[in-house]
Amino acid sequence: MTPLTILRYPDPRLHTVAKPVATVDARLRQLADAMFQTMYEAEGIGLAATQVDVHERLVVIDVSEGRNQPLVLINPEIVWASTETRIGDEGCLSVPGIYDGVERALAVKVEALDLDGQKQIHEAEGMLAVCIQHEMDHLIGKVFVEYLSPLKRNRIRTRMLKQKKDEEREAVR
Ligand code: NI
Repeated sequence: MTPLTILRYPDPRLHTVAKPVATVDARLRQLADAMFQTMYEAEGIGLAATQVDVHERLVVIDVSEGRNQPLVLINPEIVWASTETRIGDEGCLSVPGIYDGVERALAVKVEALDLDGQKQIHEAEGMLAVCIQHEMDHLIGKVFVEYLSPLKRNRIRTRMLKQKKDEEREAVR
């Protein structure tokens, strides 16, 4: 299986709002597999289908040290979020090399289907809670840099576009 291509900010397709998954079937399981492979290869802790240009409500996550605790969330909905928040540095496979502070709920409860189509409730805090909120933002077309000031966001945009141009120049050599 070749890894999927991850869209990079400011690709406008990252702002697509994903549709709910209609059926949890073999096609979806294959997509989740490919997304895990892509995420592990890129050394990320989470990946939303939006980032691989599939606009359905599916995210894969693994925040474990051993990279052996895969979590799939299909049609996830946050059913509870703590009022207590924290600002922590985030990065994103769609915005490589950029890390900045985002305010998130400290803990969340999320309801989602698993790969058997069964409804599960996950209680998360710490890094997992942050990751779930970050990935679920992707599903509504939101990239974490949109929480930053317009000035910072513009700088990131310029840097990403330059990086892309440099890579394209490298590729034709
Ligand atoms: Ni991301």
